[in-house]
Amino acid sequence: MRQAPASERTPLFLGLDLGTTGLKALLVDDRAGVVAAATAEYPLATPHPGWSEQDPADWLRAAHQATRQAVARAEAAGHADAGARVAAIGFSGQMHGGTFVDRANEPVCPCILWNDARTADECDALEREIGREEILARTGNRMLAGFTAPKVRWLQRHRPEAWRATDCILLPKDWLRLKLGSRRVTDASDASGTLYFDVARRTWSAPMMRDLGISAAQLPECAESPEIVDRLNDAAAAAMGLRAGIPLVAGAGDQAAGAVGGGIVRPGRLSAVLGTSGVIFAPTASFRASPDGALHAFCHAVPGRWHLMSVTLSAAGALRWFRDVLAHGAVARAAAAGADPYAMIDADAASAPDGCDGLVFLPMLAGERCPFPDAHARASFIGATLAHGPAHFARAVLEGVATSMGASMAMIRAAGVPADEAVGSGGGFASALWTRMHADAFGVPIVRTDAREGAAMGAAILAAVGAGAFADVDAAVAHLRETGRILPDPAARPSWDARIGRQRALHQAIRAAG
Ligand code: XUL
Repeated sequence: MRQAPASERTPLFLGLDLGTTGLKALLVDDRAGVVAAATAEYPLATPHPGWSEQDPADWLRAAHQATRQAVARAEAAGHADAGARVAAIGFSGQMHGGTFVDRANEPVCPCILWNDARTADECDALEREIGREEILARTGNRMLAGFTAPKVRWLQRHRPEAWRATDCILLPKDWLRLKLGSRRVTDASDASGTLYFDVARRTWSAPMMRDLGISAAQLPECAESPEIVDRLNDAAAAAMGLRAGIPLVAGAGDQAAGAVGGGIVRPGRLSAVLGTSGVIFAPTASFRASPDGALHAFCHAVPGRWHLMSVTLSAAGALRWFRDVLAHGAVARAAAAGADPYAMIDADAASAPDGCDGLVFLPMLAGERCPFPDAHARASFIGATLAHGPAHFARAVLEGVATSMGASMAMIRAAGVPADEAVGSGGGFASALWTRMHADAFGVPIVRTDAREGAAMGAAILAAVGAGAFADVDAAVAHLRETGRILPDPAARPSWDARIGRQRALHQAIRAAG
């Protein structure tokens, strides 16, 4: 049988998601169906406590390797000439990372990542100099240690020679795209997390640049996520097994790309992710900041839309900590029964009464971003008595996280953002008990869908939209189907409202006590 030339076969689209632990390459077809995937990992360096750095060269190597492997897997699965059929590449990446490069686009120092905590002093200094209200008015957000602006100030103060050599400040996925193409570009969703970007106007903030000492020439051009902004260069094409010259679209920060991958594109349908951290992502039709900047107000990857986002830093991560540090009994019983330790902890929690007879857990194991931005916040169990056993402690962890997420949801609503239902994803929602708690804490149904692959899928969809396979992002996610729905119990509302109020009061009291 004659093999159709590559050009006559259906196109494929490649999504590259540059994560914190590795880079995922996902190949999809022109209906956003998964064809093949591969991941290549890289290390994270912590040269000092609280520091978190990566060598950008590792990202590039990982992109070459993961793409070659995904193409090989696609071909092994019967997708002939998969590499030659890739028609466009989209990008997603860990946000906020400061990638400082010289005139030749080589990093002048390791990338300072989103979870690096070295810049607390710079945040305080910038808030004092510019004013919290003024920063909020200019950018829609608060000065947080993870964001890019305080990293710029840190480099200027502590590595002046590296700052003098800095010709451009890029975000991680934008450095990767530059190395695969030739142009310095970012997109509005990722730029939103720099804190020198005017989120309401989707453009760089001149007053923030002035106060930070950043020149216009040091920032990349800013595009919208599905826009074609570059072409694959010859060297990268050879290293990845693709055709040179195919379009590269701008792509998005990982949260916005994940929302696209999960079909969270219009106001009303939110996403709730219960992973290491707990994220609520609420699309909005116009720019809205949250009062006091307690939630992040960023651009969406969908042109002309924005979102409010909350990040509870320790969500399923708090449960993992509980499993490793305190739940030895449940872990031993699970091992003896050949069961999953999380299922055992879950069963314990289900046997404790709702409200844990007054035992409360504050989940701020790594400081907190939302609903109370406070890098110095610490976790605690409060209200323990002799009557409390391991099951109460297990349930208190689940309730404490759901309370924090519920508080953020209440703030999203208070900002006037529609919240009709939340699409749940992430390992934490494997627990039926924890899912019900979140539905009650949110007061909206938690919906499950057939969306898989998250941010890498979002990146691939943006590539497909940019290349014209779909009319727009809305059309590209229209195929996603609901597979389940957990309804909130209206009778539970008052008790969750009381928990949300108590968690806030306890956090404030502990803070006041120093
Ligand atoms: C978003 C955020 C994380 C990072 C790393 O504000 O900090 O999602 O992008 O995943």
